[in-house]
Amino acid sequence: CIYNVILSGGVGSRLWPLSRKSHPKQYLPLFNEQSLFELTIQRNRPIADKLMVIGNKDNDHLSQEVLDKLDVECTKIIEAVPRNTAAAIAFAALAVEEDDILIVTPSDHLIEDMEAYQEAMNKAIDLAEKDHIVTFGVHATRPETGYGYIEHRGDNVLSFREKPNHITAQDFIEQGNFLWNSGMFCFKAKVLLKELKKFEKEIYETSKIAWKENINGGLDEELSMNIPSNSIDYAVMERSKKIKVVPAKFVWNDLGSFESLYDYFVLNGHYVDRNGNMVIGTEVYTSFVGVQNTIFVNTPTANLILQKEYSQEVKNVYTHLEKRN
Ligand code: GDD
Ligand code: MG
Repeated sequence: CIYNVILSGGVGSRLWPLSRKSHPKQYLPLFNEQSLFELTIQRNRPIADKLMVIGNKDNDHLSQEVLDKLDVECTKIIEAVPRNTAAAIAFAALAVEEDDILIVTPSDHLIEDMEAYQEAMNKAIDLAEKDHIVTFGVHATRPETGYGYIEHRGDNVLSFREKPNHITAQDFIEQGNFLWNSGMFCFKAKVLLKELKKFEKEIYETSKIAWKENINGGLDEELSMNIPSNSIDYAVMERSKKIKVVPAKFVWNDLGSFESLYDYFVLNGHYVDRNGNMVIGTEVYTSFVGVQNTIFVNTPTANLILQKEYSQEVKNVYTHLEKRN
């Protein structure tokens, strides 16, 4: 059986104040009244037999609204507290039969060209059947530090490097045989669990204990707090020898930071002034003097003024505000 597992627990902190804890970016109906979460479900329906959504209890009603609208059946895993993607993916793998194949997809990407997408997925499923852990590699166009990099030869992975610093990322781009990790994965449940156990035994064990005590997919907060918080990229992908990559021919946009949103908007005709400044969120005439590559984000309750190159650091504002509340 093939599952599409949608990870929807993130808060999109790098897109604050567009994305808020009470309304994370994957639920914003920005694309013809549809959200990225909804588009993700639709995209994978022709490929997977079943759907599973893993989100947190604060997001659950937002997921449910979309599931009701689309009238799809879904297994839900509801986290009491986010423990990052290693734990979320462990829950998914523990929830199914050991030979089931999971196509894990984030809920916040914009993908175009369904034919190429399906072709990539079919390749991945074949490789997963052979006990590989499959990543999808995207052509890297700039030294982005918010992504994982896959050094490859064909579908073989030589190394996986999560979130390198700027100089290293620049070096990868120059070397030319690095792809961005798209953040989607495909594997057999038992293969992933075995690798997690091998490299992060504590995450494996504590996730297993927490999962055992779930009530209808709902996790206990105290047991969840025992799980070390780490991403699947650091926990497994950087270390496993079972990784393969399917180079992606589809168009992939991770609208994860203002820099990527900016690029997407530019491609789609959003106004930028001749110094590269952009306004997001207001029609009110705004003028930039003496500044370059600045993004002004306007929302009814908060504004952000950002030098585009510092997009990864917006997360710190969010963290700071979280602590203050
Ligand atoms: N259920 C659940 N629980 N989902 C989570 C959690 C959690 O605790 N934390 C994050 N997620 C979801 C997010 O909502 C998102 O859909 C996905 O998991 C990935 O998390 P991000 O926080 O967006 O990861 P990232 O962008 O820093 O890095 C990942 O994606 C990049 C591409 O977008 C990595 O896989 C990188 O290697 C990759 O390049
Ligand atoms: Mg992301």
